Amino acid sequence: MSDTRANKRFRSQEWFDNPNNPGMTALYTERYQNSTFTREELQSARPVIGIAQTGSDLVPCNKIHVFLMDRIKAGIREAGGIPMEFPVHPIQETGKRPTAALDRNLQYLSLVEVLHGYPIDGVVLTTGCDKTTPAMLMGAATVDLPAIALNGGPMLDGWWKGKRAGSGAIVWESRRLLAEGKIDYEEFMKRVCSSAPSHGHCNTMGTASTMNAMAEALGMSLTGNSAIPAPFRERMAMAYETGKRIVGMVYEDLKPSDILTREAFENAIVVNAAIGGSTNAPPHLQAVARHIGVDLHVTDWEKHGFDVPLMVNMQPAGEYLGESFFRAGGVPAVMGELVKADRLHLDVMTATGKTMGENLKGWESEDTDVITTYAKPMRTNAGFKVLSGNLFESALMKTSVISKDFRDRYLSEPGNEGVFEARAVVFEGPEDYHDRINDASLEIDDRTILFIRGVGCVGYPGSAEVVNMLPPDAIVKQGINHLPTVGDGRQSGTSESPSILNASPEAVVGGGLAFLQTGDRVRLDLNNSTMNALVSDDDWQARIDAWQAPELKHQTPWQEIYRKHVGQLSDGGCLELATAYQRIRHDLPRD
Ligand code: FES
Ligand code: MG
Repeated sequence: MSDTRANKRFRSQEWFDNPNNPGMTALYTERYQNSTFTREELQSARPVIGIAQTGSDLVPCNKIHVFLMDRIKAGIREAGGIPMEFPVHPIQETGKRPTAALDRNLQYLSLVEVLHGYPIDGVVLTTGCDKTTPAMLMGAATVDLPAIALNGGPMLDGWWKGKRAGSGAIVWESRRLLAEGKIDYEEFMKRVCSSAPSHGHCNTMGTASTMNAMAEALGMSLTGNSAIPAPFRERMAMAYETGKRIVGMVYEDLKPSDILTREAFENAIVVNAAIGGSTNAPPHLQAVARHIGVDLHVTDWEKHGFDVPLMVNMQPAGEYLGESFFRAGGVPAVMGELVKADRLHLDVMTATGKTMGENLKGWESEDTDVITTYAKPMRTNAGFKVLSGNLFESALMKTSVISKDFRDRYLSEPGNEGVFEARAVVFEGPEDYHDRINDASLEIDDRTILFIRGVGCVGYPGSAEVVNMLPPDAIVKQGINHLPTVGDGRQSGTSESPSILNASPEAVVGGGLAFLQTGDRVRLDLNNSTMNALVSDDDWQARIDAWQAPELKHQTPWQEIYRKHVGQLSDGGCLELATAYQRIRHDLPRD
């Protein structure tokens, strides 16, 4: 990539230095010089670098970016750019009702509108909390201005009574203890709060760590960016280096479309399996791929990822948290081990201006207890299974979190390994589940499959993380922590449940789950990647014929707009109309 600084004319100069339209140029310039900039800077022919600020009091997971801003701006200045920080619509995973997933596309829209409509030549995407990372990448993909991701980093490790307390993971564990009557409300609160000791995003390999690893694996950040804990000095240095680098990217005109290729997505799929990444990664990456115009399909996850081994010993699949992962080398160390096994495309371009292969030279695990080699992994076949059948066209299963206990109980019948048949109990959303899960008349036992529907993109709206349903208290007291669960929603990336989720199409738009009834027999066959309700074709068709779409109640204008335009999880849960807009930076808006 060549960085010839002479004779570059930037997009921002159409605003700030356009003698052909003195009226508008004067208007733009007078206001931007009233508080922060001088006329001389604005007309200095230097690139304007936007910094998309995702952190705030409402988004504590990303609030570190408020404090990193000095270093980002210093890097941009050092390299000859003019930094302009701007806010985007806030998304916080645990604070936003009905679900943060509803807002991913809203943050995406707000970023697209800012990048397209303001004098910006390149952008630093501040990322962290689950949906902020894909929303930022999706927006950058649509506009296709030079863009680089900067993660805020995970929190320090949490501790409770001498044991690591991981974000989310401790919630699931503590819920079980509460259900068993082993702890009270007070201890429940203290246990959960112990997992959040500092600035940063979730410290487990949940969706936040996963999506930032994905940004790095795609080549959209500097090498080593994603795993540095938020409070570490290395995080400050990374902010500065990222600020410096984006200016170079603008001079080189290195754009998302140069980086986000089909091969880059295949790399990300492989890395996701190796890190034990979240089941939220497929819809998010699918969305990024569609906005950049790369043809990716949900089945690519099984095709390219299933046989990749689990190499990261981090909760929820393993033991450690973010600090150990960082010290063991983080994402580039995992990728370095994958390079040795010839599992990655190395000639793909990245934000550094070098290929992925060049970036990864010399990287390997610094602690094989935390990041294993490819040959001696924690588990083999750690990727997702993509199931299909009469209940859905596709659904995901993260087989790497299937415990030995679960496998022995459900998937190890001699001569019938990997196959499980059971009776279905169906819930209409999380409220119905909470109301009825302990109802003895449902006759839930250890041979029951729990289903939840109406919780997909259109149904919830936004697709809820509720598929990892806890069994009834009586079953938990018998020591059974997981029943098989299935649903058209998602589950938290910090959950260790081997659920079958993201079922598409969802029930409320007439997907197969809509026709299932409590009491039906259902058969899961992991060898053939199928799941079917064992109902005769005639009966099934009669149920389809009798079905009426439920009436949906919107609470806000955005919920109604979202429902009208959103697609299914298997297609990334995008605003379908937005996927027609590609590389829009070439279409300058009117004055
Ligand atoms: Fe924000 Fe996990 S809740 S990162
Ligand atoms: Mg979540």
